[in-house]
Amino acid sequence: MAISARATQAKGAVDVVTTFLARIRALADDPDALDLTFGNPHEMALPGFTAALRAHVEPRSADWFGYKASERPAQEAVAAGLSAELGLPFEPEDIAMTQGAFGAISLALALLTDAADEVVIPVPGWFCYEPMLHAVNLVPVRAPLEPVSFDLDVDAIARAITRRTRIVIVNSPANPTGRVYSKQEWESLAAVLEEASRTHGRRIWLISDEPYRRVLFDDVEFASPAASYPWTVIDYSYGKVLLAPGQRLGYLALSPLIPTHEREELRDALMPLGLAIGWGFPDAVMQYSVPEFETLTIDLAELTRKRDRLYAALTDAGFEITRPEGTFYLWGRAPGGDAIAFCDALAERGVYVMPGTLFDQPQHFRISLTATMEMIEAALPHLVEVATASRGAAA
Ligand SMILES: Cc1ncc(COP(=O)(O)O)c(C=O)c1O
Repeated sequence: MAISARATQAKGAVDVVTTFLARIRALADDPDALDLTFGNPHEMALPGFTAALRAHVEPRSADWFGYKASERPAQEAVAAGLSAELGLPFEPEDIAMTQGAFGAISLALALLTDAADEVVIPVPGWFCYEPMLHAVNLVPVRAPLEPVSFDLDVDAIARAITRRTRIVIVNSPANPTGRVYSKQEWESLAAVLEEASRTHGRRIWLISDEPYRRVLFDDVEFASPAASYPWTVIDYSYGKVLLAPGQRLGYLALSPLIPTHEREELRDALMPLGLAIGWGFPDAVMQYSVPEFETLTIDLAELTRKRDRLYAALTDAGFEITRPEGTFYLWGRAPGGDAIAFCDALAERGVYVMPGTLFDQPQHFRISLTATMEMIEAALPHLVEVATASRGAAA
């Protein structure tokens, strides 16, 4: 075999995504398709986003497009934004600019883990954690969320921890469920991690995956576990709040509560490890644009209208939907109980939603609210009709 064992495992963990992509291949050829699958834009980019890029693309010095590690103005803008949002004194030196949240997670894994360490991940959770862990010789260990509510299940995390555990990954606002976890949940998790670190004589780190931190509905209050557990690193992406995931930009932030000697050691490693993972820094123009990007967001009022319209119409039609508190996803149980059958029946009508099989939940489905309101209105009658037929077939 040409590819390595870990490459085989990583590829195997992405199979569920590639299989899904193969199933929805028809999408590309059908201009009338209603694509409610991935969190991709369906409208033109924010004018402020394009303006910032345009403002910074014209070189102002000979080294404008030279190699860029983490640029100081970007780090300062991030530290100021994070400090205001989370009420913790983040320092610019503790911010590593990265290629989105993907890049920030890769950097965190490079900084904190050794080969064969175990990393606890939530289920249902983002489908890229497992392949990313396999690709760097780490062992994913699944910890289920509470069934039905999809609350954090701290006892399940405690059960998943062994003496090999190095990291627990948490994600709030959560993909795919849209749940936002509370300060009390983080406090309970912190107590478990503190206790387990002591029992096993090895510090367990928390990666708080927060790319949807600014995509919140209503007045839901965001709490970061960084405020509850000092040994936390935060990964972030601008791809969600600006709905431009193809322009790669994000960061890894070291919590200011990490004990000083450990934080200094990590800080000194941010640049060398950014290099070691393959120059994981964002492109120069993206970094120059961070101060402007910090002030921009997609239209959250319109996103809320789409959430409210779909949630009300689907619950009225008998669907069981988890009301999203954040993210741009809507998560529900597939009528009839078979997500693939439900999604395939919709696809036959040109409506594409994501089966929960991508998240290890074969009875659920996910709808992306990044579709336009027109697309949502057009898809609704199909969702309701297919639901009625699916329930009939299952009865
Ligand atoms: C939970 C979660 N984490 C991380 C990422 C990666 O974000 P990005 O592609 O902007 O790096 C995503 C993207 O879908 C996500 O849903």
